[in-house]
Amino acid sequence: MTRPFLSIRAVRKTFGAFVAVHDVTIDVPKGEFLTFLGPSGSGKSTTLYAIAGFQDPSSGDVLLEDKSLLSVPSHKRNIGMVFQRYTLFPHLSVAENVAFPLRVRGRPDAEVKKKIADMLALVRLENFAGRYPGALSGGQQQRVALARALAYDPPILLMDEPLSALDKKLRQEIQAEIRRIHRETGVTILYVTHDQEEALHLSDRIALFKEGRIEQIGTGEDLYLRPASEFVAGFIGNSNFLPAEHLETANGASTVRLADGSVVSGVKTTQAFDRGQKARLMVRPEAFRLTPGPACAALAVEIVDTAFFGDRKRIVVRTAGGGEIDVRPTSDAAEPAGIDAASRGQVFFDPASAFLFPA
Ligand SMILES: Nc1ncnc2c1ncn2[C@@H]1O[C@H](COP(=O)(O)OP(=O)(O)OP(=O)(O)O)[C@@H](O)[C@H]1O
Ligand SMILES: [Mg+2]
Repeated sequence: MTRPFLSIRAVRKTFGAFVAVHDVTIDVPKGEFLTFLGPSGSGKSTTLYAIAGFQDPSSGDVLLEDKSLLSVPSHKRNIGMVFQRYTLFPHLSVAENVAFPLRVRGRPDAEVKKKIADMLALVRLENFAGRYPGALSGGQQQRVALARALAYDPPILLMDEPLSALDKKLRQEIQAEIRRIHRETGVTILYVTHDQEEALHLSDRIALFKEGRIEQIGTGEDLYLRPASEFVAGFIGNSNFLPAEHLETANGASTVRLADGSVVSGVKTTQAFDRGQKARLMVRPEAFRLTPGPACAALAVEIVDTAFFGDRKRIVVRTAGGGEIDVRPTSDAAEPAGIDAASRGQVFFDPASAFLFPA
C-alpha cells in the first residue's frame, strides 16, 4: 500500500454552533484530478480553504507526504491556487503576473524569463505577454491565472469554480486546456464545481458533498452507474423516480411492484428494505427502450410529448402512477413505431440498470 500524497483527515469546520464540514476524510494519490461536487453551501470551498491554509479546520489534519500542513502558513504551503475571485494584479502585465510567484521566491532572472515563456505557451497566450489584464477577455484572464498558479511548479493546484463566470463555449475550451495541462504536468488537482457535467468531464474521481459530508466518492462511472443514494442518483446525470413497493431482496437484487401493478425483478440496491416498504425506483432516461428486449420490464405509459434533441429523441410519458418521466432511448430505432402524442403504449427497461432507494 503506497502512502497517500495528500491526506485530508477528519477535517471539521464549525462556525459558532453551525458545522459547515463534518469530519471529511480523503486520501489523494499523487497526480490525481479530484473534484469536489455538490450543491451550494455543502462545504466544498470550506474544505478547500482548509487545504489552502486560508482557514484552519476546527479539528482534523491535512498532511502532505505525511507532514502536517496546519502549522505552515498559506503562502509557504507551495500550493497553486486559481479561485474565481483571486484575480490578477491589474497594474502588472501578463508576463509580470506570471512571474510574480517566482519573483517573490527570489528566482534568478534567466529562470523567470524562461518560465514566463513556457507558461504562456502552455496556456497558449504567447502573444499576450505585454498586455494588461484589463485588456483581456474573461477566458484569457483565467488562463493567465492558471499560468501564474503553475509557474513555480506547485505539486498541488487548487481551483475553486474557476470557470463559473464564463460562457459555455469558453468554459469547454478552458476545460480542455486544464485537462491537457493536467496530463502534461502531472500536477495533483483539487477542483471545485457545482456543475456535474464539468465534474464528469474533468475528474479522475469525484467527491460528492451534501450538507458538509461526502455522500459518495468514486469515479464518474461509479457515481453514475452505482449511486449510493437517491441524492447521488439525482445529482449526477438525469434520473426518473418511479413509486414502487418493495416485495423482496436477495443478493442485492430486489423485486418490486410498480403503480401499474406490474412486478419487476432484478433491480439493484445497496440498502435493506422491509416487505411492503414504500420505495423509489430510479431509471435513467437513456435506459429506456421503445421495443421489448430480453429480460426487459414493460411500463404502461401514455405519451405526453416528443421532441428532437439533434442526436436523439426525447419522449415525455405519463405512467400509471401519474408522474411524468423522461425517456431518451439510445439503442433501438430512432423512429418509435406507433409512438405519437396522445397515444398509449409501453416503454421497456432492463431491471439491472435500475436502482431502488427508500421513499
Ligand atoms: N465565515 C463563515 N461564517 C459562517 N458560516 C460560513 C462561513 N463560511 C462558510 N460558511 C457556511 O458554511 C457552509 C459551507 O460553505 P461553503 O462556502 O464551503 O459552501 P460551498 O459548497 O463552497 O458552496 P458554493 O457552491 O455556494 O460555493 C455554508 O452554509 C456557509 O454559509
Ligand atoms: Mg464555494
